[in-house]
Amino acid sequence: MRVNRRGMAMVAALVSVLACSPADGPLPADEAPAAADRRAGAPGIGDPDFPKDGNGGYDVAHYDLVVDYVPTTKRLTGVTTIKATATQDLSRFNLDLSGLDVREVSVDGSPARFGRQGDELTVRPAKAIADRAGFTVRVAYSGTPKPAKDSANLGTYGFVPTSDGAFVASEPNGSKTWFPNNDHPSDKATYDFTITVPTGLTALANGELVGAPATKGGTTTFRWRERHPMASYLATATLGKFDLRHGATASGIPNLAATDPRFKSSLDKLYTTSAEVTDYWSTIFGPYPFSSTGGVVDNYSAGYALENQTKPLYGGFDPDDTIIAHELAHQWFGNSLTIRRWKDLWLNEGFATYAEWLWSEHKGRKTAEATFAELLKRPATDPMWTYPPGRAKPDDLFNQSVYTRGGMTLHALRGAIGDATFFTLLKTWAADHRYGHVTTDEFIDLAQRLSGKDLTALFDAWLFQPRRPT
Ligand code: TRP
Ligand code: ZN
Repeated sequence: MRVNRRGMAMVAALVSVLACSPADGPLPADEAPAAADRRAGAPGIGDPDFPKDGNGGYDVAHYDLVVDYVPTTKRLTGVTTIKATATQDLSRFNLDLSGLDVREVSVDGSPARFGRQGDELTVRPAKAIADRAGFTVRVAYSGTPKPAKDSANLGTYGFVPTSDGAFVASEPNGSKTWFPNNDHPSDKATYDFTITVPTGLTALANGELVGAPATKGGTTTFRWRERHPMASYLATATLGKFDLRHGATASGIPNLAATDPRFKSSLDKLYTTSAEVTDYWSTIFGPYPFSSTGGVVDNYSAGYALENQTKPLYGGFDPDDTIIAHELAHQWFGNSLTIRRWKDLWLNEGFATYAEWLWSEHKGRKTAEATFAELLKRPATDPMWTYPPGRAKPDDLFNQSVYTRGGMTLHALRGAIGDATFFTLLKTWAADHRYGHVTTDEFIDLAQRLSGKDLTALFDAWLFQPRRPT
């Protein structure tokens, strides 16, 4: 046993010597953390559907991201500083990072050993960290980010190079393609961004600008701060040529719209619709959770949008009010209230889809009831009826059922408990879990508590059965 382990350690050590140059020798990559050392942080945060996403043993409070990006060479140089608290004694812990070369890692200012294995960056501090202690880890890295391709019928996501910069949309686990982090929504944190690009380009991250952009020596540095907790998949550093319009919504929320020059004609509509929708949702879902709103249209033809916190990102199309209503509804459902496990994704997508129907109703177009009735007519063989939306599948996370049947679930609920209770429920749900985490069970419990009804059968039929509810 022992001899065997050492032999493997030597091979692994050779591999990691080639892969990285840590401060004082490579970290043996073979030690299965749990078996080798009870004080090792787990390589995953405990989402059974995504066993390697996120990490165990600590909780991040804040990310400070310094990113330099040169579109012509596609080269990124970064320094990520993470403030975290240990949730166990830690002899070592992991971060998620995909590709890119790590130059140096330190913990509390002292050089730390590190190793790479797949998308796991393992850090061994010079001195073990005690349970409940705060610590700071700093990672200096660089390279050409490679977007993620595999999971969840989405195509390419993460840090995606464009003709003039980068389109950064990372759901569900693409943040690790551009900075080392605890890449799972169950660990939210605040963020500072310092992004440097060639002068003439604009870098757009979450939250608000801190000071004016600073230009020197042909580069411009943009500093952004997101002071509300944010899931890693919502972090962005979308950059390139942009036209901007900023101001405030009618109710006074700072509003920033940005469009790639190819979509300049969309700028005013993006600005005014984002403002109108943000203010309207504030009356339906309760106070807007963040310090600014807006949207970004880039020239990368993703064909989809992502609800990046404070700055939804639209990929290569002129967004209409329906999709703007969807992405801004996510600021409440998904961003302020964040799922603990990906299987509960309908709490994001079902709600944002139902918001589209509410928006249409608000605008005097089709009612939510008419949309629901039409969808209910789909034949029993429609794939939506065999995919239960309450348990999103890891290899097909963004299945249309999670969106459409998820939205129908809310309409069926509305019918069962009545409009008054239903709209109180939406506001109470958003208020009770503001900036926090949520599960499907918590939503069902609240719906039952507020309505005084047993809704087990309704939720079971709509969320968990592989057939059309009757
Ligand atoms: N959450 C997005 C929506 O509004 C869809 C989505 C998931 C996405 N992953 C993405 C978009 C990655 C862009 C990139 O429905
Ligand atoms: Zn969505």
